[in-house]
Amino acid sequence: MLAEHRLHPSDLVWPLFIADGKDGEEPIASLPGVSRWTVDRLADRAREARDLGIPCIALFPNTPNGLRTDDAREALNPDNLICRAIRAIKDAVPEVGILTDVALDPYTSHGHDGLLSHDARSVTNDPTVAMLVDQALIQAAAGADIVAPSDMMDGRVGAIRSALEAEGHCDVAIMAYAAKYASAFYGPFRDAVGSRGLLKGDKRTYQMDPANVGEALREVELDLAEGADMVMVKPGLAYLDVLARVKDTFGVPTFAYSVSGEYAMIEAAAAAGAGDRDALVLETLMAFKRAGATGVLTYHAPLAARLING
Ligand code: PBG
Repeated sequence: MLAEHRLHPSDLVWPLFIADGKDGEEPIASLPGVSRWTVDRLADRAREARDLGIPCIALFPNTPNGLRTDDAREALNPDNLICRAIRAIKDAVPEVGILTDVALDPYTSHGHDGLLSHDARSVTNDPTVAMLVDQALIQAAAGADIVAPSDMMDGRVGAIRSALEAEGHCDVAIMAYAAKYASAFYGPFRDAVGSRGLLKGDKRTYQMDPANVGEALREVELDLAEGADMVMVKPGLAYLDVLARVKDTFGVPTFAYSVSGEYAMIEAAAAAGAGDRDALVLETLMAFKRAGATGVLTYHAPLAARLING
């Protein structure tokens, strides 16, 4: 009766990994309970989301290695894995929202989110933004409802917004990964999209320093000024202070990404008998709500929705 916050399945966004091929499910060892699904089997996951009351799924492709190149050109192929998945899901279950990642890491041979400079010391901002714009456009054309730039280049939100308007995709929303930290919690995700072994160096020239919170507020402010409809803080649990500051400061729809390493920690704790999985999941999700999250991207989404629905 006195609870200040409540969990609802509509608070959840379910990230899903896509595998090439047919009729396949590929379990991901570092994310126990999570699999990559082939395009023909993804619609069933979307139906599951709909039946559980989860409003939106987020799609991440595991691009076949032969299609990963220095220039990430497969990102701009309108028939690439993610575009085929978007079309198949929209055909089968149009009422479930589709959020797509705008970044080049599933397509680069070096695992970075952007194009590398000649000396390979960093990613080049502006050439990368030009590609991200085209990537967002083909995702929107395939039927994505929300495009989510996760690359942390400067100026990409404004460039993507203008291009979407110019091409008539006025209804496609932008969720900016506005405050995305260079984190050690992304390891299992990189296994899932096949970029861990490829990644040269780290992402600290474009992702944020875990020491900073003022910078997060400036990043959010810029993304909103450029036309972001909603923002995200990532990772989640270790950054609840950032989430709360962002929500208090701007009052806009603010999402948390409870990332792969956080999922893996809960699963490891449950497997070791250190805690009860269901209770850990619900308590963690409530913490996000208490900190001000509008919603949470979590690999536990279907489990959490089942628990909430009773
Ligand atoms: C890359 C991207 C990452 C995640 C989402 N998009 C990883 C990275 O930046 O290296 C991480 C999500 C997770 O760990 O669950 N554009």
